[in-house]
Amino acid sequence: MRSAIENRISRRKFEKEPITDCEKEKIISIINQLNDVSGLTMAFMEDGSSAFQNLRKSYGLFSNVRSLILMKGKKEDKDLKEKIGYYGEDLVLAITDLSMGTCWVGGTFDKNELAIDSSEELACVVVVGKVAAPSLAEKMVRSTARRKVKRMEERIISDQPLPQWVENGMKAVLLAPSAKNTQKATFKYENNILSAQIADDYSMDMIDLGIAKKHFELEAGGKFELGNEGIFHLK
Ligand SMILES: Cc1cc2nc3c(=O)[nH]c(=O)nc-3n(C[C@H](O)[C@H](O)[C@H](O)COP(=O)(O)O)c2cc1C
Repeated sequence: MRSAIENRISRRKFEKEPITDCEKEKIISIINQLNDVSGLTMAFMEDGSSAFQNLRKSYGLFSNVRSLILMKGKKEDKDLKEKIGYYGEDLVLAITDLSMGTCWVGGTFDKNELAIDSSEELACVVVVGKVAAPSLAEKMVRSTARRKVKRMEERIISDQPLPQWVENGMKAVLLAPSAKNTQKATFKYENNILSAQIADDYSMDMIDLGIAKKHFELEAGGKFELGNEGIFHLK
């Protein structure tokens, strides 16, 4: 499995030292590439700390937040949230490969502190920063006491034993981040057709669906159609 999928966890406590100009340039270049293919308008913000200073909203979970990525796009894009999840997770995994920490943040920040063009919608942010490399002890704790991950049977229903490629894709889905760790996106494999769906009764659901589809594709290849219940095509 791609190492960033296995290594990524949400990081909320950052080092005081900001990321370097070189790291910043790399992030901006990835954002530009992803905006080009998606039509999104994600943007790097050097200092978004003011959105995390109101303790009532962030409950003190975050520390030393400075840089963040505004996860946004055109209001009229009907697939906006799903695309933000799908392309945003590409970004998060690329930043993980660069050894920086990230956390998707949908609720626990102050939206009013971040100015957005009136033609755009800000769906959430991704905070990014330098993190202390986990020690060996921390890695051992993480692998045994990892936050609760649902079992594969809870995420996919099927009318036949899962082929290897579906099982591979699902293993990556199990490690995908999700709002409030609800892991709500589910998959269906029936009559040899694979699809992905989510209840879509919470504002972050379609972002979670995009993230889950991205993880599946990175491991299994192929591509999902956009939309809730989007169908998968193996190349
Ligand atoms: C769309 C989305 C929104 C999220 N919003 C928040 C948030 O507001 N505050 C927070 O602390 N974590 C937030 N998270 C992080 C999740 O809590 C985290 O992904 C989940 O608990 C799984 O843990 P992991 O990312 O370490 O694997 C969000 C994640 C996603 C995907």
